[in-house]
Parts: sequence; structure tokens; C-alpha cells
Amino acid sequence: MGSVLIIDDQEDLRFSLAKIVEKQGYRVSTAANGADALDMLRSAIVDLVFLDIGLPDISGINLIGTIKEISDDIDIVMLTGINEAKTAVQALRAGAVDYIVKPFDIIEFKAILKRILQARLMRKKATLLHQEVGIATIIGNSPPMARVKDAIRMAAQVDAAVLITGETGTGKELVARAIHDNRPGQNGVFVKVDCGTLSSNLMESELFGYDKGAFTDARSDKKGLVEVADGGTLFLDEIGNLPIDLQPKLLRLIEESTFRRVGGLKDIQVKIRIIAATNTDIEEQIDRGRFREDLYYRLNVLPVPLPPLRDRGEDVLLLADFFLQDLQKELKKDLQGFTAEARTKILGYGWQGNIRELRNLIEREVIFNQSGWLTMAGLSCESISTGGKKEPLLSLREIEQLHIKKVLNAVNNNKSKAAKILGISRTTLRDNL
Ligand SMILES: Nc1ncnc2c1ncn2[C@@H]1O[C@H](COP(=O)(O)OP(=O)(O)OP(=O)(O)O)[C@@H](O)[C@H]1O
Ligand SMILES: [Mg+2]
Repeated sequence: MGSVLIIDDQEDLRFSLAKIVEKQGYRVSTAANGADALDMLRSAIVDLVFLDIGLPDISGINLIGTIKEISDDIDIVMLTGINEAKTAVQALRAGAVDYIVKPFDIIEFKAILKRILQARLMRKKATLLHQEVGIATIIGNSPPMARVKDAIRMAAQVDAAVLITGETGTGKELVARAIHDNRPGQNGVFVKVDCGTLSSNLMESELFGYDKGAFTDARSDKKGLVEVADGGTLFLDEIGNLPIDLQPKLLRLIEESTFRRVGGLKDIQVKIRIIAATNTDIEEQIDRGRFREDLYYRLNVLPVPLPPLRDRGEDVLLLADFFLQDLQKELKKDLQGFTAEARTKILGYGWQGNIRELRNLIEREVIFNQSGWLTMAGLSCESISTGGKKEPLLSLREIEQLHIKKVLNAVNNNKSKAAKILGISRTTLRDNL
């Protein structure tokens, strides 16, 4: 679907062009002068504008610049008179994509309409393809991850609000994108909002936009992220941090699909899918009076809990191998892989920082590795025994072995050097490996 605005002072022309656009299955609105047109462009998302060169209040050419200021992403086609060829060239220079000379026939108009809107769709698809998160790109076959993938497939089919919960680094954003990308016929954008970083006032104008004069700095109207996300997904990250005084406004947006800009007098209607994520316990926030219970229920229609990495069994090894391949390519290194001990360590570690921690650690090892084998020396015995998983403590012998390997790794496998540092003979060192 595309949205078209026709700006022309000739009423009959406006009317018949609007009819044609509508018949083609696109949304359409019309304006008879520049001022009305600008109002409309500031309060709704428009893809394509047909703009008459000779408007009563402002020259079409001058209007091009103002439209581009509102959004750089609007395509403009000029409607020019037969004697205005010169102005048409000027219009193209000012940023219009094309022009039609009046009087034109319907076929010509339809062709240009279709061409431009289809090209936009292709562009949008191309960028989506670029970042698309297929379910297959989410690594993990463990039963809890199989359940997560089922939940993603299910959520992608419907419009209901989704609440993704999970510790830091468990893949909440990845899952949100996957739900968005797997929506059949998805043409909308994915807009991420971090709910925890701004003050309540700034957050409100960031989210809902503002009208000119709403506060001292509001020199012109501004669309908020909610409007930008119209037709797509609004991802509210760290929703637990959303200031309490903004919560009723979000509740209204979810319940009625409408909101008002800061300082705005009219309700604006949008169609957006809401996905929220949190790593804090919202129910506890409710008990403390920091989060509205009604909002929580509205957000939590489809809950998607992400298991911590330590509960995903051997998925951690799949992820480790994947990150190793990926990082080798990125850092142009050619390594052998993880040692058997490294694999055991990876499996046993608590991974409080989950997948993000795993990736960071492997990255560090890849950068500093010299021997070709990754030992995961960064996972010290201490961190293993204090990890989230209740592992039996290591025996002294195991600790010794780990330490010897760490030292060997640090000196590039030079046994004499390692023995010297450890204060043992080469024979003892060999016996302990
Ligand atoms: N199952 C997975 N397969 C492949 N990569 C993953 C997986 N889960 C997470 N990742 C990667 O791990 C990193 C962290 O994931 P993401 O940012 O989605 O986590 P998060 O839960 O949003 O973290 P935080 O709470 O810190 O914001 C990203 O680079 C993501 O692509
Ligand atoms: Mg995140």
C-alpha cells in the first residue's frame, strides 16, 4: 500500500485524480493550497505527492524544499502547464522525481503513479532483505529454543502485542526483529525505542512528536516515532523504564490506535504492531507502583520468555562455533577451533551476560590467539565455579591443569618458558598435561 497526496487548486482535477489513485488501491488525500498541504504532510505519512506548479499561496517550486524538509523520503511529481517546460526543469533540480504536462491522459498518470510506488516498495523490500532475520538465523535447537521459535512463528501471524522477557544478552532484540520480518507481506518499518534513556518530557516528544509552539523550542511540527512506525512495528525496548506519567498515553495508543502529539489538539490514528521487551521483573515494578497493571496486561498478550543461555544445553556450543566462523571471517584469521577443554568450559560456564558475553569473549580470544587453538583462557576457574549454573567445584588437579594451559597459551606453547614461570620442571609440566 502507498499513500498519495494531490496538491492542486483546480477542484475538478483534484477530484478526478483522487478517484483514479483510490481505484488503484492506494490511499489518497488532497489539498487545494500549499498551507493545507504542509499541514497534511506533517501529520500523516505520505509516499508520493503530485504538486501543481502554480498554487494560489506559494509557488510549487518553493514548496518542494519545504516538503523535503518535512521528510526526505517523499517522492514529488510536478504537474506543469504546457508553457512551463523551464519550470519543470527547475523542479527536477529542486528535488522532484518527475513531471507531467497538463493536459495529460489518465493512462500516462496511472503509469507514473504505478512506477513510482512500485519502485518505493522494491527499495523498502531491498532494505528489509538486507537486515532480515529469518527464524533459521536464530541459532539453537534445545527444547526451550524450539519453543521460542514456535512462539515467533505464531506471533508473526497476528497483530497482538508481544512482550519479550529475558536476561541481558539473551537475544530480545533479535527475536523482536524476527517477529517483524516474518510477518507475511511485511512492508512496514521496524522502529526501536529505548524507553530508559530519556527524561519523561523528551521521551514524550520523541515518541509522540509535537506541534509547533508546544514548547519554546518547538519551532515546527515534528512527527514522533509512533508516526514513523505507522504500518510497521514499534519495538519498545526496556519497557520497564517507561516513565509512569507516559504510561496512560501508551495504553491509549494500544487500546484505541490513536494518540496526540505534544501540544496537539487532534487525534492521530495509526496502525502499528507493538513489541515490548524487558529484562526486569515488571510484576515487581507493579507492586512498587512504578508500572501500571492495565498497561502490563495490554502489552503481555503474547508473552515470549527467552531462556538464559545456561539453560539451553548444547546450543552454547553451536553459538560458539557460529561466532568463531563469523569472527574469523571478519578479522581475517584462520584458526583450528576450540580445544576439547575449551568446549567443556564453555558448556559449564554460567554466562550471566548470555549470548552477548559469549560473543565478546570469543572475539577477544580470536584477536589475541596465536596458537590456532582456542582455549577460552578468559574463562578462569573462578568464573566457572561462581557461574550461574550450580557446577561442582573443580578439583585442585583440574585447576592446576587449567592454569598450566593458560600459561602455555600465553607463552606460545613454549614449554621451557612455561615451566620457568610456573616454578616447576619441564617433566612435571608434561606429566600434568
Ligand atoms: N540465538 C541466537 N543466534 C544467533 N545470534 C544471537 C542469538 N541470540 C542473540 N544473538 C546475538 O547476540 C547479541 C545480543 O542479542 P540482543 O541484542 O538481541 O540481546 P538483548 O536481549 O536485546 O540484550 P540486552 O538486554 O542487553 O539489550 C546480538 O548480536 C544478537 O544478534
Ligand atoms: Mg536489547
